[in-house]
Amino acid sequence: MSNQPRHIAIIMDGNGRWAESKGKTRTFGHEKGAEVVRTITTYCATHPEIERLTLYAFSTENWKRPKLEVEFLMKLLEKYLKNELPTYLEGNIRFEPIGDLSLFSSSLRKTITHVREATEHCTGLVQSLALNYGGQDEIVRAANQLCEANAPITTESLTQALDCPSDVDLLIRTGGDNRLSNFLLWQSAYAELFFTDTLWPDFSENELNDIIRKFKTVERRFGGIN
Ligand code: FPP
Repeated sequence: MSNQPRHIAIIMDGNGRWAESKGKTRTFGHEKGAEVVRTITTYCATHPEIERLTLYAFSTENWKRPKLEVEFLMKLLEKYLKNELPTYLEGNIRFEPIGDLSLFSSSLRKTITHVREATEHCTGLVQSLALNYGGQDEIVRAANQLCEANAPITTESLTQALDCPSDVDLLIRTGGDNRLSNFLLWQSAYAELFFTDTLWPDFSENELNDIIRKFKTVERRFGGIN
């Protein structure tokens, strides 16, 4: 039987370089990147073997970017969530943000909560946007939560206390770098990693389809022998 990529996670890198290569500002790349988020989410929602898609939209380290770029990303995110609510509902897609949302503006937090609640009943794809997310931060928050509850820390209890308690099957990074950048560190313990030079705004359903085809041929041993 071939592998099914039930949980796909993507590090969407390369928006800035894509825009600069066209003589445009980096923000233009982020705008195009948001369109690709919609395309790839819809692709996953129409392939029922894919249960979960987690996208790295803003890391705990991204606050170090120039203030104007950070502000632009915040506005873009809010606009995306407001505009795309019909896409979530029509596609039966549940929106589950992950990350520490406490640092966002109250307006953005309200929009995030609204879309999360409005799609709670959806039973198809779970689309998670990682927002002010860092894998190390997520693990520390989960461990603290267990300590405060005086609960034993085990692999299972820590997994359940994470923002995202689901193992990643297939992790893709666009943009040419071969690193995890603090994304889903715990959940990717046995993920298959695919790196592509394609910049995120040029990433397509066809390329995702090709990667999934390759993923299905990989022998996954999870530390055992076959
Ligand atoms: C990396 O490109 C991308 C980001 C830091 C943010 C990802 C954001 C988007 C895909 C658009 C907005 C998303 C949503 C959900 C509305 P980069 O800026 O690091 O590119 P570079 O490596 O070429 O500089």
